Amino acid sequence: MRRLSIVFLLLLSPMVMGQSLYQQLGEKEGISSIVEEMLYRVGGDERIVHHFDGVDIVRVHKLITEQVCDVVGGPCEYSGETMRVSHEGMGVTHADFNALVEHLIIAMEKHNIPVSTQNQLLAKLAPMYGDIVEQ
Ligand code: HEM
Repeated sequence: MRRLSIVFLLLLSPMVMGQSLYQQLGEKEGISSIVEEMLYRVGGDERIVHHFDGVDIVRVHKLITEQVCDVVGGPCEYSGETMRVSHEGMGVTHADFNALVEHLIIAMEKHNIPVSTQNQLLAKLAPMYGDIVEQ
């Protein structure tokens, strides 16, 4: 019983097993793989794929990986444009934003990222909403 409650506490803890958020996401390699999965899924999503017509997806993959690594406290420095500048004029809607987040969540599920870790990453990305969504 005592062991069970310790396990329960560890599951609830934002520092799962003493790991930082960056570590919980599998460090740079894990983040790169999650972002790859997310973009792969976006590529098959008719609701939003048109936004990516003609986009250098390898470059975007590198930049989103770098940005996520940076915002979760990893040893990376984001080198891309601000969210406002890079999404300006794209007409990204609330529904588009949610669709991309949906793919990010599925990608994290596929990588067996615990829900509490998923929520911590989503909380880091949420403040970007206002700079990305235009309508
Ligand atoms: C939390 C949500 C999002 C994050 C963290 C994010 C992050 C980024 C980053 C880091 C870049 C590269 C910036 C640069 O060019 O220097 C980028 C570019 C881009 N994003 Fe997002 N983005 C998000 C949501 C969205 C959504 C919802 C869409 C559309 C459905 C979208 C479409 C694009 C496109 C098309 C580009 C390429 C722009 C270009 O190269 O011309 N993004 N995003």
